[in-house]
Amino acid sequence: MPSIASMTEDSIVAHGDSLMLLEHMPDESVSLILTDPPYHSTKKDNIYGDKAFQEDEHFLEWMEAYAAHWKRILRPNGTVYVYCSAQMSARLEVMMSKYLRPINHITWTKPNEPGYDGWKGKMNKEALRRWYPHSERILVFEQGSYGDMNAIRRSPLGQYLQDCRKKADMSGHKLTELIGAYGKVNHGGAVANWEAGRNIPSREQYAKIAEAIEATGAVEKMLPYEDIVRPMDLHGGVEFTDVWDFPSVRPFKGKHPAEKPLDMLRHVISASSYPGDIVLDCFSGSGSTGVAALQLGRRAICMEIEDQWVARMAKDLVQTQPLDEDALPARPATSNRQRSNGLLTESLFD
Ligand SMILES: C[S@@+](CC[C@H](N)C(=O)[O-])C[C@H]1O[C@@H](n2cnc3c(N)ncnc32)[C@H](O)[C@@H]1O
Repeated sequence: MPSIASMTEDSIVAHGDSLMLLEHMPDESVSLILTDPPYHSTKKDNIYGDKAFQEDEHFLEWMEAYAAHWKRILRPNGTVYVYCSAQMSARLEVMMSKYLRPINHITWTKPNEPGYDGWKGKMNKEALRRWYPHSERILVFEQGSYGDMNAIRRSPLGQYLQDCRKKADMSGHKLTELIGAYGKVNHGGAVANWEAGRNIPSREQYAKIAEAIEATGAVEKMLPYEDIVRPMDLHGGVEFTDVWDFPSVRPFKGKHPAEKPLDMLRHVISASSYPGDIVLDCFSGSGSTGVAALQLGRRAICMEIEDQWVARMAKDLVQTQPLDEDALPARPATSNRQRSNGLLTESLFD
């Protein structure tokens, strides 16, 4: 039977099958789902559920039951990050896009020193007959739908802006003019871009939109900015690309076999949630997602089926306090992996 292993003002550790636990979660209650299910493809004995499915299809059906719940419990401005292996990522993304709108497919490279890089140093490279899998995938989704030519308009913010504007019986041009976002070339383009989900209005622009639309009397009060704009905090020199270099967690006594590095989890949580938001992990393992969330002043719900990991995280989470911004390690800087491709394009097209 599922049970609550620990609870504080800011965290809950729930012990049991997360699919059953999800049944108890209210609709639109979570801002960020950051979760790392058994990969299935790696077939590890020491991870519960990793060898549970004979067929890939059965794994995908099991994940689909989760996807349906995630859609239901995610707030309109919420984000879902799901770790997976390169082998399963394509099929998982296709299945999940029936429920949520895919926005990224992140590659996590693990730049580990020799001795910490799995079998890479020892194996017969030719015998593998393919490239050595030295990365993992993180699929990212937002609310909304996907799969037809209008789907681009279905980000919750874009849809909401369009619904409010139409209720107010106002053209895109008119609204652009009223809020002073009229460009020299692309008249009405700002509103069209926001509605299409190409970019978002600033806080000031959103306040002006709300003022103009509410003034018509057709919409009483537009939602506050934070409730409808999906957070994506990538200011300054912070890494903004979809290729991430984070060394794996070094072995230590009591380490979870799939423990994810705290700096990577904090990178996700800082970017994709607001302080005070609820972060959910349905496959919590060591509780690393919960620890990272609490360190950043978010709230955490952690679910896990195995007693030993529930015990570790219940102990760790009650002791974790929000950290001072100054005490936090800096977020990763933008990688300089972008190389000039001048040589290739010049030789092809000169
Ligand atoms: C890949 S590991 C997650 C590791 C975690 N990200 C960390 O940093 O420690 C997957 C975890 O999901 C747990 N698990 C598997 N099936 C589960 C289920 N049905 N409900 C809850 N937890 C489950 C496993 O026990 C395992 O600890």
